[in-house]
Amino acid sequence: MKSSVETGGLENAPIDIVNALDQYDLPRIRDFQKITPAPDLSHIPGDRGLPFFGQMFPLLRDFHRWLDRQYAKHGPVFKQQNPLGELVFLLGTEANEMVLKNESRTFSNFLAWDVTFRGLFDNNLLERDFSDHKRKRRILQAAFKREAIETHLKMMSPILRSGINQLCSGKTIRTKDFLKNLLLDTGAQVFLGTDIGPQADKLNRSFEAIVAGTTDFFRLEEIWFSPYAKGVRGNRTISKFIFSEIDARRCSDGGDIFTQFCKLTDDNGEHFTPEEIRDHIIFLLFAAHDTTTSTLCSTLYALASNYEWQEQLRAEMFALDDRDLELAGLDRLARTGWTIKEALRMYPPLAMMPRYALVEFEFAGHHFPAHTPVAVSPLFTHYEEGYWDQPGTFDPLRFAPERSEEKRHFYQYIPFGGGAHKCLGLHFAEVQGKTFLYHLLRNYRVSKDKTMTRYNYNNVPLTFPRDGLPLTFTRL
Ligand code: HEM
Repeated sequence: MKSSVETGGLENAPIDIVNALDQYDLPRIRDFQKITPAPDLSHIPGDRGLPFFGQMFPLLRDFHRWLDRQYAKHGPVFKQQNPLGELVFLLGTEANEMVLKNESRTFSNFLAWDVTFRGLFDNNLLERDFSDHKRKRRILQAAFKREAIETHLKMMSPILRSGINQLCSGKTIRTKDFLKNLLLDTGAQVFLGTDIGPQADKLNRSFEAIVAGTTDFFRLEEIWFSPYAKGVRGNRTISKFIFSEIDARRCSDGGDIFTQFCKLTDDNGEHFTPEEIRDHIIFLLFAAHDTTTSTLCSTLYALASNYEWQEQLRAEMFALDDRDLELAGLDRLARTGWTIKEALRMYPPLAMMPRYALVEFEFAGHHFPAHTPVAVSPLFTHYEEGYWDQPGTFDPLRFAPERSEEKRHFYQYIPFGGGAHKCLGLHFAEVQGKTFLYHLLRNYRVSKDKTMTRYNYNNVPLTFPRDGLPLTFTRL
């Protein structure tokens, strides 16, 4: 099996890419990227589409429908042509397991995610591979232990309550914008600290610019008004803030994630460097923000479409005492938990996850050469008939212990991914989602216009309502 390539003029020896990723040796990884040719995928089925753009437009228009059509035509393996090259989709639970478990170190995260993150979210945890990833993840995990999340809950609850209380009764609003702003404010406090004061707005704007930069196709910093250039400048603004605060945070007792990161140490008692703190914090803001906004959008759409279910959640929430909104209390919100899970099943924020094959491999009767870019899709297995009863129907009770439909295969339900890179913030996300719904449903009824008969969403780059999700919030 090949796991290295000849370096041409760059070095004398071939680059052992697994080793370079293991050590996070960026110069060698960059050399590898420069010299590695695109693989020959001519034997893999797939529609060609338009010259240059390939299948990009139908995929962007309606990813779910595109995926179903491609599956019906080609089966669980097909390639997709796009301006950046070719991507092979591997569908089904077996594909999810092989790729996400990645037992034989066949797949790299860095070489798949780099195209999205380079220059904007450099050196983040998601794109680290193998032992380098394991080391970093072990350190970061400390910031997501139960006691830490209990502190985060205390910080986020008053901000969510106060933001929700400002909703005008009876008014229809673009729910996505409302959630985005509220979760940005919450994120600024929980991630960066309670005392950032008037800088919060500037930092939020910078952060939004970085996120927008990830979708810029051309990535030219020289074009100063391009989304990418604005994103790079946003990154510099946040970096400046973070660097200026690190010394003070090392001796402070704040419960925010930034302060916690300043104090974390590795096995040798070494702190993260200022650059590492900056890179991890900026990425966490990103990983946490749009994903939770997306989840709450789809959850609210589902609740606005199912009044009875909304009432059941409300009853569950009134049974809790406001003053003791603690993790133990949130644990008792079982129906709320199943509702969020069902929204994540039907509308997973990340509808596909990319990887890059370092070596050749076989799957479903196909042979794939080394350097094949692949993707697995939660969306596909979240609707697979064999695993779910009536997958097109909103039915949170499928997650109740007596049904536990999600347990029919370990890799059928993967809104948070799986294997070594499984989402580090899944408990945080659940706590934030439940806390938001707790404050909302105890005070407001959520409704939608009768003409809105389906959730009008798209999945790329992340799952979001196309129309901003107009919903009405009426005081109880
Ligand atoms: C409902 C909300 C969320 C969803 C659906 C979600 C989904 C995911 C998915 C699918 C992955 C794996 C991607 C891959 O393997 O390619 C991931 C990774 C990650 N997520 Fe989340 N996420 C959510 C919220 C959060 C939050 C709130 C945080 C932080 C507070 C967070 C931090 C991370 C981190 C650090 C990783 C990388 C883990 C690693 O590589 O070891 N996520 N997330």
